[in-house]
Amino acid sequence: MVWTSSALKSAVILNNVFLAISGEQKVMCGIVGAVAQRDVAEILINGLHRLEYRGYDSAGLAVVNLQHELQRVRCLGKVKALNEAVEKSPLIGGTGIAHTRWATHGAPSEDNAHPHVSGNFAVVHNGIIENYEELRALLKSRGYVFTSQTDTEVIAHLVEWEMRSAGSLLEAVQNVVKQLTGAYGMVVMDRMHPEHLVAARSGSPLVIGLGIGENFLASDQLALLSVTRRFIFLEEGDIAEITRRSVDIYDRDGHKVEREAHDSNLENDAAEKGKHRHFMQKEIYEQPTALINTMEGRVTHNNVVVEAIGNGAKDILEKVEHIQIVACGTSYNSGMVSRYWFESVAGVSCDVEIASEFRYRKFVVRPNSLLITISQSGETADTLAALRLAKEKGYMAAMTICNVAGSSLVRESDLAFMTRAGVEIGVASTKAFTTQLVALLMLVVAVGKAKQTLSTEKEQDIVKALQALPAEIEKALAFDKHIETLAEDFAEKNHALFLGRGEFYPIAMEASLKLKEISYIHAEAYAAGELKHGPLALIDADMPVIVVAPNNELLEKIKSNIEEVRARGGQLYVFADKEAGFSEAEGMKIITMPTVNDITAPIYYTVPMQLLAYHIALIKGTDVDQPRNLAKAVTVE
Ligand code: M6R
Repeated sequence: MVWTSSALKSAVILNNVFLAISGEQKVMCGIVGAVAQRDVAEILINGLHRLEYRGYDSAGLAVVNLQHELQRVRCLGKVKALNEAVEKSPLIGGTGIAHTRWATHGAPSEDNAHPHVSGNFAVVHNGIIENYEELRALLKSRGYVFTSQTDTEVIAHLVEWEMRSAGSLLEAVQNVVKQLTGAYGMVVMDRMHPEHLVAARSGSPLVIGLGIGENFLASDQLALLSVTRRFIFLEEGDIAEITRRSVDIYDRDGHKVEREAHDSNLENDAAEKGKHRHFMQKEIYEQPTALINTMEGRVTHNNVVVEAIGNGAKDILEKVEHIQIVACGTSYNSGMVSRYWFESVAGVSCDVEIASEFRYRKFVVRPNSLLITISQSGETADTLAALRLAKEKGYMAAMTICNVAGSSLVRESDLAFMTRAGVEIGVASTKAFTTQLVALLMLVVAVGKAKQTLSTEKEQDIVKALQALPAEIEKALAFDKHIETLAEDFAEKNHALFLGRGEFYPIAMEASLKLKEISYIHAEAYAAGELKHGPLALIDADMPVIVVAPNNELLEKIKSNIEEVRARGGQLYVFADKEAGFSEAEGMKIITMPTVNDITAPIYYTVPMQLLAYHIALIKGTDVDQPRNLAKAVTVE
């Protein structure tokens, strides 16, 4: 049964950028909902703009008015296309739901865009319904006709089916979620009851925004900052019913519960680019301030305040004998840097593992082992699953180093050490990485102090280095113009190799991740000592080799590696300390960096690498903030 309404408007806007999706893309989308007296279409679209970093292959919205007319517009492409469509034929109605999508089931298309409609009901959904094929077959046998390839459409039809016997939309949604396996954050709207929305959360975040005489829903508070600053974060299994004047929340057993409301400290313009061309550029430039914020109240003039790590942190850190870090992507790379620090500075053994591997492996938990998850978003599905698994396996405690207050990792960990980077919108993580490193270094000191493995002098050295870092990074940003020129060499390149040693190896990993994700140049990072074991075979005049060469105890080793590359005609770009004794030669460009403290040098050298990736991407003409096939928060597996 195909839903029809005389008031249904449908717009197809073909974006000239077609995003080729093969198979499932396990990434996430954005949701906004509103119940108000005023027309909500503009609020919904504004919210979608702010969430576009989460998914951007198609978008849609539906509103209902008091005459029970449901109007829906869906477009292929970005929210801009949706906005243009709505400007041409405005939608009138005080209740609405909207969605920006990144394909999971079904390619990007107007038909697959949300909201999905069945009978009187419209649904937007983030996540993946794993048993959707089975449900689809069941619903077909009941006579429902599917108009999309999405898993979400089964929810719409299930709601329609359940409403035939349920006494309310709330009850229908409670019955529907019992039939779903997988992850969802969803909002359902009923044409016949236009002044309320029902939302459900399991595995995909949802917040309620509290207004005056109006209420809102979103997958991220960022979407709603222009209309409210007061939020309730739904918990796993919660179902909420919102009207203009009421918010009722029920837990997974159907009991009515109270959830605390929080005032957001995010700036309303957090999701604006300001004078910058891209969010990534803005976020690179925000790093000095972000680092200062991350250290505030945690580093005094000569020591790291252990108590500031969190309530009860001292007791845990005193006992810790091993650290297991679990994370994905950039956050994994910061964990890798910290492994060098934990072992050399605090004398505590440390393992670092990619969350998607850790969660499916049979591992042995060492005595007094502290689990640390690292995440910008706090919602990365693999990292969250790893945390939940680790909690069953008897780790001493679970700490998260995270940037988003109220996120799942923060709520489910024993200790949360917030990075205070501010909102990061660019898909390529920049300030999240450097603030993670600063937080990790403070934690290393705290562990060393708690375990009495770190001398006061060493602590003071590290504190001095940390305090000098924001100003040093400010100066590193002045390399921007030089790096912009350098980037021109990469215009025709298809591959790049990054080399580093010691804690600069993960910095090379992070640099290569940045380059590949935003410029689409194939980039790899190697521990420079591994060159002879294979990658040297790749070296020729078409292979740019970027080397991070600070003036540390491994300098002579990295110089030998550089010679190995030169001898084979590789094109070298060496980011070197001014005291390291390099000079330019044929096939070798030197980017001379000021001398900085050894301990914070990995954080410092990150910045020119970010700028390099950024400028190469500009030359390549890629979508810097929203690179193809990626989204900011990977909240499903
Ligand atoms: O939010 P998280 O830090 O948990 O995200 C982990 C990765 O998805 C993320 O770092 C990803 O690799 C970035 N796009 C890298 O720039």
